[in-house]
Amino acid sequence: MSPVTEDPQLAVVILAAGQGTRMKSRTPKVLHPIGGRPLVGHVLDTARSLAPAHTLVVVRHERDLVAAAVTELAPEAIVVDQDDIPGTGRAVQVALDRLGDFTGNVLVLSADCPLADGATLSAFVAAHRAEGAAETLMTAVVDDPTGYGRIIRGADGSVVRIVEQKDASDDERAVNEINAGMYVFRADVLRTYLPQVGTDNAQQEKYLTDVAGLLRDAGERVAASVVDDVTVTYGVNDRAQLAEVGRLLNVRTVRRWQLAGVTVQDPASTWIDVTADLAPDVTLLPNTHILRATTVASGAVIGPDTSLVDCEVGEDATVRRTDATLAVIGAAATVGPFSYLRPGTVLGARGKIGTFVETKNSTIGEASKVPHLSYIGDTTIGTGVNLGAGAITANYDDITKHRTVIGDEVHTGSHNVLVAPVRIGDGAKTGAGAVIRKDVPAGALALSVAPQRNIEGWVEKNRPGTAAADAAARARPAQKADDGSQG
Ligand code: UD1
Ligand code: CA
Repeated sequence: MSPVTEDPQLAVVILAAGQGTRMKSRTPKVLHPIGGRPLVGHVLDTARSLAPAHTLVVVRHERDLVAAAVTELAPEAIVVDQDDIPGTGRAVQVALDRLGDFTGNVLVLSADCPLADGATLSAFVAAHRAEGAAETLMTAVVDDPTGYGRIIRGADGSVVRIVEQKDASDDERAVNEINAGMYVFRADVLRTYLPQVGTDNAQQEKYLTDVAGLLRDAGERVAASVVDDVTVTYGVNDRAQLAEVGRLLNVRTVRRWQLAGVTVQDPASTWIDVTADLAPDVTLLPNTHILRATTVASGAVIGPDTSLVDCEVGEDATVRRTDATLAVIGAAATVGPFSYLRPGTVLGARGKIGTFVETKNSTIGEASKVPHLSYIGDTTIGTGVNLGAGAITANYDDITKHRTVIGDEVHTGSHNVLVAPVRIGDGAKTGAGAVIRKDVPAGALALSVAPQRNIEGWVEKNRPGTAAADAAARARPAQKADDGSQG
């Protein structure tokens, strides 16, 4: 982010003390994540982009959990505790007390409204300053105003007051201009009028929304900024709104990457966390999730049906139908279909992890391949190695885990068990079905399966009258003839 000079006349107060009853959740509402970050994290990010002199977050419900998350997400933020007087007005009052004699403007945001972006909010603050208003409200005209506070305007169009859904008459409920819950106040105005807010309402709370009516009655100017894009005002009160706001955030994120040169074939089924980073000319195929701190380099093709969590994907790599967490995938490497990369997997450039392969805490060197049906755990593999189908590292002896170390240019036969701790030297080979319990020196061929012995006529003798015996009997003259022609 480009450095922004601090605005000494701006304080941001983020309200996060409410119970979030409608979420019906053990988790505090403002900690529910969308786009890879808790709701309050998005609001803290936006606040930071405005470079305020002070950022305060008001907490109460699940206070310790919320405070810990806030401190981790934004160490610069001051956590303020709300007392037992409920309501958004009281929440702002306790924050104001913490601001001492601050004389600038106070931008109030709700931790449950994560879609308000920095550009919208800085224009909002600028409009308040330009108007010289005591309070500026953000409002939006919506199709369905249910649940929001309504903006009641006078005959001249100026804001008279805000009425909450629960306190509104039928006529007032029909108003479809809503209070977005974002405000700029002059600090001195809050200091004068907040203490006058009462609790005589349906919820018996101190409503921040009542300040507008008090100001109007006192002849102070209340301005309103009507936003064009109503989605920036969307709040999360229940799980349906959580999903909808999460979807809208994703639409925004996908579009941002598309404009930055990423091909996204099906935006609706592609989920990108706000924390991920993609290079131009990445291609994302349908049903792909790029999560947390994942980075994808130019030319890589991810998906379909792939989930990458905290992964690093190199240039021109291909990752199909894969589930990967904390894995590094090298340049021009190929992964999938149907691969499971667990934490600590490092695949070198031009390497391959193929179908039905699970890897964990393992380094697979440059141009090395684990193509089919394998489990590779706690293993270091050199360069140019090919593991035959069905390679299993037996890394766990019931007590502890051990490492397998495979050198460069090693080829193993199909269906090998490598019993750790064990080392296979450079250029060595192993036979099919080998169980490798002892180190294999460089250049050796390791065989652990007894030579094959054929007992002629066993089936006809021991299983007479079975379909197998009949088939063997029918084959006998032909086989004799074959043998004859060779002899
Ligand atoms: C609030 C507004 C409403 C507006 C809507 C916009 C009030 C009275 N109503 O209603 O006009 O349309 O937001 O989304 O302000 N909080 C506290 N302390 C409290 C109560 C709430 O910090 O005592 C916090 C909550 O955690 C939340 C925010 O304030 O982040 C808003 O509270 P919420 O209960 O969701 O208010 P709404 O009913 O949505
Ligand atoms: Ca709300």
